[in-house]
Amino acid sequence: MFASRRRFLKAAGAGGFGLLTPLSLAGIVAADESASWFKNPLRLPPVQDGQIHDDERVIDLSLGYGTSEFFGDRPTPTAGINGAYLGPVIRVRQGDKVKLKVTNRLSEPSTLHWHGLNLPAIMDGGPHQVIHPGKTWTSAFKIRQGASTQWYHSHMYHRTGIQVYYGLAGLFYIDDPRSDALNLPSEYGVDDIPLVLQDRSFNEDGSFRYASSMHDRMMGMMGQFMLVNGTAFARLQVQKKLTRLRLLNGSNARIYNLEFADRREFQQIATDGGLLQQPVSMRSIVLSPGERAEILIEFSAGDDVMLRHKSLPRRNSSGPPMMGNMMAANDRPFDIMRFDAAQVKPGPGRLPATLVAPRDWAVADAVRRRQFTLNMRMGMGMMRGGGFGINGRPMDMKRIDARVPLGDIEIWEIFNASPMAHPFHIHDTQFRILDRDGRPPHAGEQGLKDTVLVYSREKVRIITQFENYADASAPYMFHCHILEHEDAGMMGQFLVVA
Ligand code: C2O
Ligand code: CU
Ligand code: CU
Repeated sequence: MFASRRRFLKAAGAGGFGLLTPLSLAGIVAADESASWFKNPLRLPPVQDGQIHDDERVIDLSLGYGTSEFFGDRPTPTAGINGAYLGPVIRVRQGDKVKLKVTNRLSEPSTLHWHGLNLPAIMDGGPHQVIHPGKTWTSAFKIRQGASTQWYHSHMYHRTGIQVYYGLAGLFYIDDPRSDALNLPSEYGVDDIPLVLQDRSFNEDGSFRYASSMHDRMMGMMGQFMLVNGTAFARLQVQKKLTRLRLLNGSNARIYNLEFADRREFQQIATDGGLLQQPVSMRSIVLSPGERAEILIEFSAGDDVMLRHKSLPRRNSSGPPMMGNMMAANDRPFDIMRFDAAQVKPGPGRLPATLVAPRDWAVADAVRRRQFTLNMRMGMGMMRGGGFGINGRPMDMKRIDARVPLGDIEIWEIFNASPMAHPFHIHDTQFRILDRDGRPPHAGEQGLKDTVLVYSREKVRIITQFENYADASAPYMFHCHILEHEDAGMMGQFLVVA
């Protein structure tokens, strides 16, 4: 079992983590001192591309418990998929028929959701596709989307936060011929590196400390230490001058504003749903929970540079001052991982001038608009899920909030009526962001998305089309991807109907 809340409460007063306290996210240390701590080789999850049987790609996955040594001497009870913490990189090609066989070896029910994928609702792995302990669930569907970095994670209602925190998540790569032909850096673990960013808190005995306070449940669970692919104080020995990073914000609640310590430029080449039309050069990128981005960086021999979080851009901060202060307290800069490029060599990867034009829809073709307001009540309403909802209502597994006719192009307007930012995610589809408070999104967001950060008091309009699969009874979800908010009811359900 995952440690109970009672146990967390007991340990909550424990405070720091002994020796490691000075390097926790609570404060930043001088750059040279910090670098000496970041020496653990970055873990690379194994790649699982399964086996072809009768023209299906069959992939076996098993959810189970394990023990992880994030800090050497203090083992942490964790959970993972085919391993102690996190899961393999599932790797498939566009056009594949996949069969994912998921066995639950935990002692509690769980699910596995394929985030970002267009698939039948009953194959989605959302809160209705519960896998009981000892049972196997088979999810079979066709990969229709093009090259992209998707992911998967537990979606057990009321338990998503803790199950993902313990490790039930992994990456899901899709390849296609158009992206193969671009000659991007694409050798896994050599010049094409996955980075799953997660912040975690620990008790003195090394166990995870999950959501022990009201603050954790209200703001979402923020950790004191960074794990990258399950590595604390990670260091990557960079091998090739041009390196591709596939970034996933796999954190429960923390929003990152990523930059390199020397503020070097990098090129964003992909969003949640795949490649951008052309690379976008930037020096920092905001990633909220659930979002992915692929970036290319140029290293020179001798570079030794930290990837870090810098404070979030201050915008739309019209919330009550108390909330503003609490958010600021969680938003000091800190180091995430180190890139040591002492040995880099030229590689085969190229940065093309143009990539692949992402799918788009014309506003004039939209046949419907829907409005979604994200609500969060302060004070006593926050207790036990009373305050989180969408359009004034908390999630109800038995209520359908929207019925979308198959094939229709729709505009969804998401208004954030709360004092903090929420990443809004829609299952089954990729969308385009039309505008943020009437202004077009920046170039790095002008691609396919399935999760969009909506700032306090902001209205974001997206356009999309729900295609290929209709089901009169099995719903898809839309929700805030801060997992504690989702668990507390900031989620709704829609059907795609023929
Ligand atoms: Cu990443 Cu509803 O999920
Ligand atoms: Cu999803
Ligand atoms: Cu939220």
